Order: sequence, then C-alpha cells, then structure tokens
Amino acid sequence: MDSFQHIPVLLSEVLNFFESLKVENSLFLDGTVGEGGHSFAILEKFPNSKVIALDRDLEMLERARRRLFPFSNRVFFFHKNFSEFQKEDLFSLGFSQLNGILLDFGISTYHIRSSGRGFSFQKNENLDMRLSETSIPVSYILNTYSEKELEKIFLEYGEENWSRKIAKKIVEFRKQKKIQTTMDLNKIVEDSIPKKFWPPKVHPSFRIYQALRIKSNSELEHIQRAFLNLPFLLSKNGILLAISFHSLEDRIVKQSTKQLAKTNRFVTLTKKPVQPQNLEILQNPASRSARLRAIMAVE
Ligand SMILES: C[S@@+](CC[C@H](N)C(=O)[O-])C[C@H]1O[C@@H](n2cnc3c(N)ncnc32)[C@H](O)[C@@H]1O
Repeated sequence: MDSFQHIPVLLSEVLNFFESLKVENSLFLDGTVGEGGHSFAILEKFPNSKVIALDRDLEMLERARRRLFPFSNRVFFFHKNFSEFQKEDLFSLGFSQLNGILLDFGISTYHIRSSGRGFSFQKNENLDMRLSETSIPVSYILNTYSEKELEKIFLEYGEENWSRKIAKKIVEFRKQKKIQTTMDLNKIVEDSIPKKFWPPKVHPSFRIYQALRIKSNSELEHIQRAFLNLPFLLSKNGILLAISFHSLEDRIVKQSTKQLAKTNRFVTLTKKPVQPQNLEILQNPASRSARLRAIMAVE
C-alpha cells in the first residue's frame, strides 16, 4: 500500500482560483504533478474537469499514476519537462487550449525522505539529486568543476556567504578522496564555516544543497523557458498559477508575469504573492516559504 508523503501547499487558494474560472468541463495542466496532491483535489472538486499531469521525474509520475487511479478516465500522464510542453502535445490529446495551469516548483517530500538520491543533509546517501536524464549528478559537479565554477554556483543559486571558502575546501578534499556522499559534503561545509556563524535551526549546508540541486537540474532555466510558452496555451480567461519556494524562483515568476502583462494579453491577478496562512504553516512547516503568483489570459 502506498503512503503518499507530500502535503500540497496553498491548496484552498489554488482551488479558489480555479473555481473562479466558472467553466464546466475545464482542462487543467498540472506541470509538476509530483505525488498528485493538487491534482487529486482538483479532480475531486471539479467532477467534469480533466487534468494533464506532467512530471520530469518518471518515479514521481508513477506515484501520481497510483494516487490518481480513481480518476484514470480524466487524467492524461506525460513524462515531460514543463518547459517542453507544446501546443502539439495538447493537439495529440485532442485539445487546443487550457483553462488552468499549475506549476508547483522544486521537489516533493518523497524526494527528500525516500528517493535515496541525496537531497537531504540528514541522510547518508550518494550525492545524485537528478530529476531526469538530462540532469547532472551532483557528485560529478563536486568532483570535476573548477573552484571558481563551484563558488559561482553556491553564490548564485544558494546566496551563500561562505561560497569561496566552501569551494576551496571541496577542491582540497577531492585531492585526497572522491566526494561521494551527503556526509562527505556535510563535513566539508562544517569545516568551512566557523561554528558561531552556523544558522540556529538547520544544518549549515542547507544552502549548498539548494544550490547544487538547482544547478544539477537547470531548474531556473526551465522556469524561464516555461513562461515563454505555457501562458500562450491558455484560453481566454484561463489562469496560470505558479508557486515558488525561494527568492530565485519568485524573482523569475515576478519578472516573467510582469513582461506578459505588458503585452496586454495577460493581467496579473496577484499584486503581491499569496502566502500560506499561519494555520497552514503550523500544519505543514514546509509550506512556510511558498509564494503564489497568478496571471489570467485576457484574449
Ligand atoms: C513540489 S513537487 C509537486 C507536488 C504536487 N503539487 C503535489 O501536490 O503532490 C514538484 C514536482 O515537480 C517536478 N518537477 C520539478 N521541475 C520540473 C519541471 N521542470 N518539469 C516537470 N516536472 C518538474 C518534481 O519532480 C516534483 O515531483
């Protein structure tokens, strides 16, 4: 029996946006289906709707398939990056436009707790972090990239103040031994940052994990590319919702939606990003950094 681990964030806010569409038989694209939490709720709440469910990670898509089994006749599964979903894919299913699009960035709780791919600093696992075949194994990055390249990754994608020191330690470490596991990485970071500068509640390596995951999977490039394409698949009054989990993602969403609104083909529905209520944060601390932005197609 599967137990699904990921709690969908800002769920009632997502459902409220899609309810405002007031369309019977709506077609949704869940570009990041994960364990299918949002899609399950959408299919349940809108009994005449259909969902195209995408994930770049085949293991997640299989989990979603099991979760959404009760709705099999209304879900179409696609193993694809959301940045590559095209009009042709819609046509291949017999559709031409979407009423709603949901993008819930990053990785799922399952990835962190059970995938065995080294996403968590709390587990002793090989450093992999790949979400799909096009991604680069993190151990490869750590063992082959130059000190300067590593520093840049930690600075740009982790906004880590100790980037230079950590990059230097990595290069020293790998002269002795290949960097293979999360424990190797944790040790390097612990040795690089003086204890008095460690953050109070998390391991000092958490920003480095974020940076390496983003680099391995080119996460920000895919978000950027998605905004050049997906909004144009919306029907008139169709809505795109994007949920970010850190400032780098949110910055891209903010800028992209601003650009789209300038074309007069879209309006922004969220002047400020929607954030989780205190109760949601209490029930699901992983939701605390979530920021939702929404745009609507006006023609
Ligand atoms: C935060 S989880 C989604 C959780 C889901 N909304 C739920 O309620 O269960 C993000 C998912 O998106 C997938 N993902 C990340 N980047 C992607 C991309 N560029 N294209 C397609 N899927 C992606 C990840 O593999 C992961 O399964």
